[in-house]
Amino acid sequence: MKDHNIVAIVGATGAQGGGLARAILADPAGVFSVRALTRHPDSGPARALAARGADIVAADLDRAETLKPAFAGVDAAFCVTNFWEHHSPERELAQAAAMAQAAKNAGVAHVIWSTLEDARLWVPLESGQMPTLMGHYKVPHFDAKGEANSEFIGRGLPTTFLLTSFYWDNFIGFPGMGPRRGGGGVLTLSLPMGDKKLPGIAAEDIGRCAYGILRGGQRYVGQMVGIAGEHLTGKQLASGLSRALGQTVQYEDVSPEVYRTFDFPGAQDLANMFQFKRDFQDVFCGARSVELSRQLNPSLQTFDRWLADNKTRISLD
Ligand SMILES: NC(=O)c1ccc[n+]([C@@H]2O[C@H](COP(=O)([O-])OP(=O)(O)OC[C@H]3O[C@@H](n4cnc5c(N)ncnc54)[C@H](OP(=O)(O)O)[C@@H]3O)[C@@H](O)[C@H]2O)c1
Repeated sequence: MKDHNIVAIVGATGAQGGGLARAILADPAGVFSVRALTRHPDSGPARALAARGADIVAADLDRAETLKPAFAGVDAAFCVTNFWEHHSPERELAQAAAMAQAAKNAGVAHVIWSTLEDARLWVPLESGQMPTLMGHYKVPHFDAKGEANSEFIGRGLPTTFLLTSFYWDNFIGFPGMGPRRGGGGVLTLSLPMGDKKLPGIAAEDIGRCAYGILRGGQRYVGQMVGIAGEHLTGKQLASGLSRALGQTVQYEDVSPEVYRTFDFPGAQDLANMFQFKRDFQDVFCGARSVELSRQLNPSLQTFDRWLADNKTRISLD
């Protein structure tokens, strides 16, 4: 009998999967071991995981044949796609289908699928509330993930659907997201969120919550589990940034129409995303419980806690 349950982790070299891999590796008394899937087994992040005890396995979501050996013999799998690498919802759907099929073939006992809402269930394509993008989507990087839920459900896979939140880490590395100096020289956080709350989370905590789900055994199978570190308005985010940076950051409530014209990749998609979160605050916040997130991950960070560790890394354009 083996002494560990093997978890195949897609995206182990990235933020979400990396958080899960590090959470498992940091708990030597735990019953799980890490099989990290990557296209680049020799990369720095893959080597760092290997040095901590992870098994590194080459796999590419765009080459389904590589997933068969990668999923073989595992007890659980963490599945995530990276829309921002290619900006193609169709490719994301195909990647999710390939992972679901590989998990089915391997008889995986528990799959966590990192998903988001299909905004078209609230804003039908024919609605003029926000423009349709790429012909078939309202929020392309959300819609394909939500649509892909059926790839796991349809195959009868024992799946937990993990609804993630806006990473506060976007203020560090996501083009266009950090505070920028406005005309008067004042740092300005521009979001089309009105006075509504944005569920946010430290990216590292996503994987830690996923670890809590795995430790729950079958408890969360078949459930949608939404996670967030805090639900904060744009004003509250700006106040937190001001306290941490020691200089004023003001919140600017730009309209989605203006945000769509911003000059960074994905601005239209993100404008629709923020508008969706703004217009359906009760649905979006209601699906993401901070209390449950803390039960899954007792070290869950607040925005202030995350800022204390990361304020020097925030990009100030
Ligand atoms: N930014 C946010 O606020 C936010 C919030 C919620 C959800 N999300 C979603 O999070 C997803 C990205 O997750 P992340 O932030 O963890 O990603 P990340 O840090 O950018 O890393 C991407 C990971 O995906 C792996 N990967 C990408 N394409 C692959 C392929 N074809 N085959 C195998 N592995 C592949 C990469 O592995 P290798 O390069 O090593 O192969 C890497 O580990 C996006 O789809 C985004 O929509 C983001």
